[in-house]
Parts: sequence; structure tokens; C-alpha cells
Amino acid sequence: MNLQGTSNNTLNLQNDRAASTLEMLRAHPKSVEIQAYLSAKLSVERLEHVLSVQEMAVDLARAHKADVWHANLAALLHDSAKWMDTERLYREVERYEIRLDPIEKLNPSLLHSRVGAELAKEKFKVTEFEVLEAIHSHTTGSPSMPLVSQVLYVADFAEPMRTYKAAEIVRKFAYINLERAVHHVARAQIERLLQKGGMIHPNTLHTYNKIFAGISNYGGF
Ligand SMILES: [Fe+2]
Ligand SMILES: [Fe+2]
Repeated sequence: MNLQGTSNNTLNLQNDRAASTLEMLRAHPKSVEIQAYLSAKLSVERLEHVLSVQEMAVDLARAHKADVWHANLAALLHDSAKWMDTERLYREVERYEIRLDPIEKLNPSLLHSRVGAELAKEKFKVTEFEVLEAIHSHTTGSPSMPLVSQVLYVADFAEPMRTYKAAEIVRKFAYINLERAVHHVARAQIERLLQKGGMIHPNTLHTYNKIFAGISNYGGF
């Protein structure tokens, strides 16, 4: 299990073997700092969701040998801009000079992931690409997601407080086959967007197609 961060936020977990990994991660000063910000900014429900995502992401990271510290940071920060209204989000997009793609320009619900990644860098001095990429891609997915991004994408969709059927299905195999879980999340997102008549970001389609193509080589599922 890799509990070693790569930045100044490095963990030192030698002295408390009895505590669970999650408790140790939550007690780290960087986690405490982020949690204080989230408590001040997010609704109680949103905060509960974030903590639930954190728990599942850390668990999944351990199961799939991803960097647990990076998964912890990405999960904690993934919805850190979710408290901003649409006007504020567009202001932040301008301030950070984020270049939006045409679908993002028309979908304010996608902006919190772009702004959240910048906020993680600016406010919490997160420099690890793996963490920033995971925050960036958690809403749409991406066909080339590193392991921590896959972990966050799945945990955000299927954390235990999510009560919809698709989340229940994903929870069943996320620990066994992460790629299959990612594929199922992309598929569920596409189905949901089609049902409500929303635009579908190309990255979600690419995520679905890429994994489908790979998996069908050995018989599909
Ligand atoms: Fe989100
Ligand atoms: Fe979320």
C-alpha cells in the first residue's frame, strides 16, 4: 500500500498502526485544512457526499494499488467549487484563464471540475498531476484516465450514499474490475443525459467506447 505523497503534503504514518488508513488520512494537516474549507463552504449534504466519496476512493485505491494519498486529496477536493453559483463559476473561469471547450461553455454543471482543479492548485498548493487530472475529469470521464482518476470517477458515482440502481450495480464489481466499473459509469451517465435530453460531452462517449473496444476483445460483458 502506497501512503507516500509526492509533494510537501507527504504522509508520515509510522506511529499509529492501530488507526485505520482513512482515519490517518483524515488526520493529516492537509486533509484537516481542506475539510475546514469544505465545512465552511458546502452544504451539509454535499459535505457528507464528499466524505463518502473520500471513504470509497481510499478503499478503491487500496484495492487497486493506486496512490492512496492522491486518491484522498482528489476525493476531498473534487467538489470544492460546488458551492459557487453559475455567475461565480464563470468569473473564476475567466480569472484562472481556463479555456473551455464548446460543450463546457454551454454546461455550467461541468465548470466546478475545471475551477476545482485550479482552486486545488492555488489555495491548497496541490501540484500532483494525478490529483489535478482526477478533479478535472470527474464530471465527464476521459478515455485516458490514470488510475486515481478512474478511482474518483467511480467513487463519485457509486459512493454508498448514492441510492440509484446503477450505483448499486457499480459498487458490486468496482473492487474486482475497475475498468468495467468506469465503463458502467460512463454508460449510466450517457443514458441519464439521453433521458433528460442533455448534451453529452465527447469525453464521456470516448470513455465508454474506448473501454468497450478493449473489453470486447475478450468477449465483452
Ligand atoms: Fe462534482
Ligand atoms: Fe461529487
